[in-house]
Amino acid sequence: MARERVATGIEGLDEMLKGGLPQGKSYLISGEPGTGKTTFSAQYILQGIRNGENGVFISIDEKPTHVVEDAESLGWDLRTPVEEGKLTLLDVSPYFNWVRYGKTNTIDTNEVIQDLSKQIRRINAKRLVFDSVVPLVLHRERVHDVQEFIRNLVFSIDDNLGCTTLMTSHVWPGQLGLAGVGIEEYLVSGIIGLRLEKTGNKFERKIFVRKMRGTPIDLSEHTFEIMHDRGIVIRPYV
Ligand SMILES: Nc1ncnc2c1ncn2[C@@H]1O[C@H](COP(=O)(O)OP(=O)(O)O)[C@@H](O)[C@H]1O
Ligand SMILES: [Mg+2]
Repeated sequence: MARERVATGIEGLDEMLKGGLPQGKSYLISGEPGTGKTTFSAQYILQGIRNGENGVFISIDEKPTHVVEDAESLGWDLRTPVEEGKLTLLDVSPYFNWVRYGKTNTIDTNEVIQDLSKQIRRINAKRLVFDSVVPLVLHRERVHDVQEFIRNLVFSIDDNLGCTTLMTSHVWPGQLGLAGVGIEEYLVSGIIGLRLEKTGNKFERKIFVRKMRGTPIDLSEHTFEIMHDRGIVIRPYV
């Protein structure tokens, strides 16, 4: 049986994805700073709240309060769902302590997953976001360690926590891939790339579905805008 689809709430994208992201898996949202990864993630979480699917948002690059304020500037209210127990915004510092001061130099994924699964069960969350996943792996020097951490994370989350997960990642120009090694790309079930393209003296926002398991994709880039209230909107839906 085909997997149920989880709507991202992004106009134009859900149509491209035949309804949304296949349920229960992990997806990478990749793009340089300012391309719209956090906006994408907040929109995804808000769509969940609208659908009665609670969310856990792990903010790693920014303080959770900044995420709330940035969402507010787009006309989105993240405070109310937090107060109503529909959304958990997690400060990531405890995770960093585990990663940094882990008993051994090896992977502490189990502790991260155990705590996360508690947070997820507490509000019966269906949507999970790591924004971004990069700092969790950057201190790992060997490609092998990065690979193992991500593999453990994705394997423990997928089909186990009952969540459909977004992991964001900034990239080096011209590359898609965490830490520039690209090893995570075969572990996640889908990859969506965001970028800015210069035409004349202005930049346009571009979105590209590079990989989506179980979904025919057209591999063409689409132009999008970030709009008040509507967030990311793909042409021709603007
Ligand atoms: N109300 C808005 N209308 C249009 N664009 C906005 C609005 N609020 C934020 N943006 C744009 O969204 C971009 C933020 O993207 P963001 O999701 O934070 O990127 P990333 O997480 O990839 O660094 C900003 O560069 C800003 O130009
Ligand atoms: Mg961001």
